[in-house]
Amino acid sequence: MNRPVDLGFLDQGKTLQEKMQCLFLHIQQRFSFIDRMAIATYDEPMDVLKSVYYFGREASSLRYYDIALKEVPSLLNLYKQRRLRVVQDVQEEYDPDTRHGHGIIQENFRSSLTYPLWHERDFLGFIFFNSQQPRAFVEQQLNEFELFSRLIADMLANEKQHASTLLATVRSVVDIAARRHAETGGHLHRIARYSRLIAKHLAPKYGLDERYVEHIFLFSPLHDIGKLAIPDDVLQKPGKLSHDEFEVMKRHTQKGRELVDILLNNFGLADTEHADMMRNIAHYHHEAVDGSGYPDGLMQNEIPLEARIVAVADVYDALMSERCYKSAWPEQEAIAQLRRMAGHHLDEECVDALIAQLEDVRRIREQIIV
Ligand SMILES: [Fe+2]
Ligand SMILES: [Fe+2]
Repeated sequence: MNRPVDLGFLDQGKTLQEKMQCLFLHIQQRFSFIDRMAIATYDEPMDVLKSVYYFGREASSLRYYDIALKEVPSLLNLYKQRRLRVVQDVQEEYDPDTRHGHGIIQENFRSSLTYPLWHERDFLGFIFFNSQQPRAFVEQQLNEFELFSRLIADMLANEKQHASTLLATVRSVVDIAARRHAETGGHLHRIARYSRLIAKHLAPKYGLDERYVEHIFLFSPLHDIGKLAIPDDVLQKPGKLSHDEFEVMKRHTQKGRELVDILLNNFGLADTEHADMMRNIAHYHHEAVDGSGYPDGLMQNEIPLEARIVAVADVYDALMSERCYKSAWPEQEAIAQLRRMAGHHLDEECVDALIAQLEDVRRIREQIIV
């Protein structure tokens, strides 16, 4: 008989990914027919489901998977009815012409259980359990799967709460400190989504997993947190900064890293998965691939990938937005400018990744106008 999974693993100090992995092993011991558990989270402003967590048998065609909820009527129904659904034989019941159906059939899964994850009035996404055996799920077990799913919904809601409290705190403090904050909430929402798009595009080449992609989405809005530590006379100065003032302004990068450490400690998040990503974004988002950036003059791959990604998202959104000192650039000119900066200031692959997905970029811009 298998030794039971040590549930002490669920204690604090573990990342959400580790906790879920532990639960998955437990579920597999209870129900040995389960081959895969996946969780897709819901991005409400974009109405998009994103595959984020993934356990068990490798199912490559179902990774990096984004789909509009309104385009999947069966899931939309489950979401509305808040009910679980069991498909006893995927090969018979799934539509191979849909991306999801095609992926599931191609991976040889035969039965599936899907449950919409709600936390009070907040819809978080879906959990999927799959088995390669047809008719694997029996009525008497469904309660238990629902229980596991609800536990996972609580864990997800908890993490989401932490992350949004952290972001809301940062945003309010930045706004208050800068009083006339040059970057709007819209900028922060857009930069999160542009950064995610770029990361997703580069994921196969760089071997980035869904968690990396999701965390860059969560953490990129913090890039300028260090501006909190910059005195008003420099931060608020309407005209061009003098040499000395610019030197002061540049310090928002190192200060940002220090503030991220303080925040992580105050929120008890020092163990958060990819906490280093948050530090790197704050510290290195003004580095340039030719070494001309600040604060450390790093070059090419010395600059952490997340900082290279956020730099492109930040520059693009700045070009496309109206600021007190400039009007918004037309899209074509902004793209031409990114191309000119590629290989010098900005990472070429990150620029190409953004340009390769202009339709999605436009959708984000149209949906998030502030
Ligand atoms: Fe900055
Ligand atoms: Fe920015």
